[in-house]
This record gives sequence, structure tokens and C-alpha cells, in this order.
Amino acid sequence: MSRTRDGNEHDGLPDPALPPPTVWEERGISRRDFMKFCTAMSAALALPPAFAPKIAHALDQVKRPTLVWLEFQDCAGNTEALLRSSHPTVAELVLDVLSIDYHETIMAAAGHQAEEALAKVTKEQKGKYLVIVEGSIPMKDNGVYCCVGGRTAVDIAREVCGNAFATIAVGSCAAYGGIPAAAPNPTGAVGVKEAVPEATVINLPGCPLNPDNLTALVVHYLTFNKLPAVDSHGRPLFAYGKRIHDACERRPHFDAGQYVEEWGDHGHKKGYCLYKMGCKGPATWHNCPTQRYNMKTSWPVGAGHGCVGCSEPLFWDSMTPFYRRLPNVPGFGIESTADKIGAGLAVATAAAFAGHGVISGMRHDKGKPEDHEEA
Ligand code: SF4
Ligand code: F3S
Repeated sequence: MSRTRDGNEHDGLPDPALPPPTVWEERGISRRDFMKFCTAMSAALALPPAFAPKIAHALDQVKRPTLVWLEFQDCAGNTEALLRSSHPTVAELVLDVLSIDYHETIMAAAGHQAEEALAKVTKEQKGKYLVIVEGSIPMKDNGVYCCVGGRTAVDIAREVCGNAFATIAVGSCAAYGGIPAAAPNPTGAVGVKEAVPEATVINLPGCPLNPDNLTALVVHYLTFNKLPAVDSHGRPLFAYGKRIHDACERRPHFDAGQYVEEWGDHGHKKGYCLYKMGCKGPATWHNCPTQRYNMKTSWPVGAGHGCVGCSEPLFWDSMTPFYRRLPNVPGFGIESTADKIGAGLAVATAAAFAGHGVISGMRHDKGKPEDHEEA
């Protein structure tokens, strides 16, 4: 419907005094809701509220960059998390500003037609498109344990990720290997960066990822035309710069020495700290307590279960048994002790990660923290 000067339909001619409707207005999203989204995105990116108009301007101007979404050794849980987002407007925003040219789970095309679409992107848009990878990549026995369209996952990843502007590894499998890489790792599963060291990769681990963090990352890219600052595990600092333990609503109970001793006990009913029940929050970097899930209603610890450290590298091996508490440092329950626990485990985890050979190459020019002062 064409807009007229007074907002009503008369002759159906557009009002020349009004700017053309934005893609958001065409989708029925009001300017007020759009600006609210931009303000929320600047908060999610840990930017001052003053950045909201810049984000709005960038999203208004954006020219639908191409995205391809690859699935390898996965459960499609990250796709499900995005598509089943309880906040459809956000998901629509992401999908609307990107041209998703290939996604095995949701695309209508199949077989040769689908593979041709993928080949077209890698050839015609070299260095310009984004890739999202979900699932780990098996390296053992020449990668035969995961093939799509007759090609191994590692072969596809080398071509598609190697020619992209950047690859976003969503979920713990694509980032670090995930459960397929858990000992004894029968397929030699690794994350994208280890499989394709030359690719520019940013990791959004979690099992699954939080779709709001993917939205924020895409918005950052569209606004600043570069990737945000990352930590030593290739994770954006805006989402993984703080420990779960730092923002947990049960933290006052930890500091006061009030713990759940067994499931369903008095402390559990009162919302006490889950440290003794195996919570890995002191050793896990993720924004779950503030970003939350399901329209921000809850998150694992909020629901009464300890964090299992799903955003940490190789957590199936390094964070198990899930119900055994972190190393029993005398005096836990005191603020400084919790910090020591977290720092100590972080060093151990980083060492394991470096040994796995994944972090090398994360310091591409586009990914250097010092290049991303906005974030
Ligand atoms: Fe929260 Fe877990 Fe830390 Fe307790 S140990 S304060 S439940 S993150
Ligand atoms: Fe994962 Fe712990 Fe968050 S289990 S979803 S990092 S609370």
C-alpha cells in the first residue's frame, strides 16, 4: 500500500515528501519497535546507548549481504534455536537483512540445484559473503565420516569458509568439536578454525548458541563492517567477556556460604548457590545470566540447574562429571576464592585449548581487539 500525505489512502500515490518505507516498515515493524531493537542491540554489544542511531542508520542502509549456512556433524540444534526463537521479530530482522542463499534445513532447493547455489556464491562473491557453520568437521580417514553432496565436510569447509569474508561457528561443535570430539573422538572431529586455519572464524559456542548473540554479532558486522573483538578462544567479548559467576543472581548466596546440598532440599527451594551441585559458573565465560533464553525468561542456573560450562572448549571432557563440584579449594564461599577458582580453571582450559591447536590464526587483522575499539 502506498502512503499518502495524511497517512490515508486517497489516490494511492506515494507522498513525495515522505522517505520511501524501509525494509522494516515494509515488514510491519514500527519505527518505535525498530529503535527499541537497535537500543537493545547496542546494549547486547556492550556499546553506549548513543550507538543505537548508528545501528539504525546502518540497518536502514544495508544491502543484504549473502549468507550461507553449512551443517556438518550436528543435531541442527542451533538452527532450531534460531528458528524457534520466542522473539520472532528479532529472528526476522536477522533473516531480512541477509540473503540466505544456502541452508540445507530450510531451503526449498535440493540435490544438484542446492549445490549449484552454493557453488555460485563461492565463485561470484569471493571474499564478500558470510558463512555460518553448525556442527563439527571430522578429519580422520580423510574426512569420510561426514559427506554432503558427495564431498567431505572438510573439503566443503576449505572452499566455502576459505573464500568467505568471515565464518561464524555457531554452537560448541562448530567452534571446538563439541560432543563428536569428546574422548575418544572416533571421527577426529574438530571445530572450523582447526579444520580451516586460513579462514577468518569467530566462535559463538554454547549448546546451543544463544540466537540473540548471533543477532548482535550480525548487527555489529552490518554496522561497523568488521568483526567484534574476541578473546583467546575466538569468542566475541561482548558475549563471552564475563564469567557466569560474575553476573549470577545466586552469587549473593555463594558469597554468604549458602549452598544447595542436595536436589530439592531447603536451599534448592530458596534459590541458593549450586556450586556444591557441580555448577561450572566460576569457570565459564558467557552472558547467559543477562542475555537469558526464551524471551529472556530464564537460563540454566535460573531454572535450578548448575551451569555445565557448555561455552567452554571441549567441555564434554573438561567439565565432566557435571555434578562434581569444581576443585575443592578451602574457604570457597569467599569472593576472592571464587575468583581464584575461575582463574585457575581458565588457565587449565586455555592450555588444553592451545594444545588442541585451535587458537592459532584467530588474530587475523579483521579480528584483532585493538582494531575494534567500538566493542
Ligand atoms: Fe551462580 Fe554457579 Fe556461581 Fe553459584 S557457583 S553463584 S550458582 S554461577
Ligand atoms: Fe551453557 Fe552454562 Fe550458559 S551450561 S547455556 S554456559 S549457563
